[in-house]
Amino acid sequence: MNLENKKLVVANFKMNLASKTEKDYWLSNFIKAEKKSEATKNALILCPPAIFLDEFVKNINSKTTSFGAQNCFWEDKGSFTGEISPEMIKSLGGEFVILGHSERKRFLKETNEMINSKTKRVLKSGLSPIICVGENAEEKRNDQGLEIILNQLNSILEGINRGLINKIILCYEPVWAISANKPDHLPTINEIMGAKLLIKKFLVEEYGVNIAKRVKIIYGGSADSKNINQVCLEPEMDGVLVGKASLIPNELIKIVTSLN
Ligand code: 13P
Repeated sequence: MNLENKKLVVANFKMNLASKTEKDYWLSNFIKAEKKSEATKNALILCPPAIFLDEFVKNINSKTTSFGAQNCFWEDKGSFTGEISPEMIKSLGGEFVILGHSERKRFLKETNEMINSKTKRVLKSGLSPIICVGENAEEKRNDQGLEIILNQLNSILEGINRGLINKIILCYEPVWAISANKPDHLPTINEIMGAKLLIKKFLVEEYGVNIAKRVKIIYGGSADSKNINQVCLEPEMDGVLVGKASLIPNELIKIVTSLN
């Protein structure tokens, strides 16, 4: 899908839709809700658990929706028990892969070096990585947020072919604002803009204005249809990465149409 001039809504289902029944229920409600919804020029990218990707691609209208995975490995095939490769995702119709989500760093000890290897392989396969960067609660308390984001960008993008940088989508994910971490507040418009400007400046310095202006920067952390102005429209982000709110089809569609 060509993303130019579009705002993105990336639905990260995480390890939800936890049974065949729940997945069928979500799919049938989404298909009904989508038929009734107003047309949008924005892009909805659904990243279900990989085990359901094939079924999502087959059942959902791909004129308005694209698909992706929540993770992948840094090789295309071989003896890597339990892993899935970019080529597998691509062969099922996926175009995007979320990489470096804070939950994978926290629970699976993913490092920036691993995310760098995954990013290279994803780009080699012709898919677009959606790379998460952002500070956790402790780093925020210590006022280290911007420094952490810069370190992550430097390590994760190291050695990436300049000609492929514009295929990358960057997500500012303040870990303390993720719904599962029970945030007591959301970032302010200024905080989101601060992170966005830092990322833009990094991209301009490393790759020049022409490449930098083509990289989409989105926001992730407790986004929903009520706060979409604060987290996306007013700080002029290119879209949102949505976790919990993706589980309610009507809410997800409301977020997409709010960006019209
Ligand atoms: P929530 O929307 O559930 O906070 O999840 C978002 C997220 O994980 C951002 O990366």
